Amino acid sequence: MKIGLFDSGIGGTTILNAIQEILPDEEYKYIADSKNCPYGEKSDRELRQIVTKNVKTLQKWGAKIIVVACNTATTRCISYLRKKFPELQFVGTEPAIKLAVQSGAKNILVMATPGTIRSERLRYLLKKNQKSNQTIKLLACPGLADLIEKNYPSHNLEPITNYLTTLFEEIDQTPDAIVIGCTHYLLIKDQIRMFFSNSKLIDGNAGIVKRVQDLKNVL
Ligand code: DGL
Repeated sequence: MKIGLFDSGIGGTTILNAIQEILPDEEYKYIADSKNCPYGEKSDRELRQIVTKNVKTLQKWGAKIIVVACNTATTRCISYLRKKFPELQFVGTEPAIKLAVQSGAKNILVMATPGTIRSERLRYLLKKNQKSNQTIKLLACPGLADLIEKNYPSHNLEPITNYLTTLFEEIDQTPDAIVIGCTHYLLIKDQIRMFFSNSKLIDGNAGIVKRVQDLKNVL
């Protein structure tokens, strides 16, 4: 089975690795669309053009399942993609708010790109899952994905640590759980833990792997 994935660069490789570990015998094509990074600061119109181009490339290659390995592209464009390409199966990546809520955390921090934070899908996830005794703080991280894209491959972590120092200044209470709502941020979990060593870091990767596995079995 041919499985295609795309993201605005290296972030989605974390999802590719997780899927490959469980399904090592499938064929994969990953588009690291770093020339359009950051997706999180693009308009809907620009993003739709970008994701359409990526999907067409993967479809041409023969992908039957397409994993949108990016929270921004998923929360903003997956409904559009499902309508435009009804012949393909899409698996999305979105902030794991449901998992964080189910973990029993009372004080939850969601880190994501500005595009994800202002998406209607995020509002919906909050409305659907948040309990009255839980506080969920949304933290937009403009420029962070781009900073990771540029510095992570060379393991130059200093600019990233400096960014997080400023970003977290406004957080006055240690969160019980932090939702890693951007695939790029999965690469800097260790740096985030340096600030919040007692917080649980939560992502939805296991659910994505399971969904791909289920689809593969029925196609
Ligand atoms: N890695 C992507 C995400 O999960 C996009 C980051 C960006 O390009 O802004 O949101």
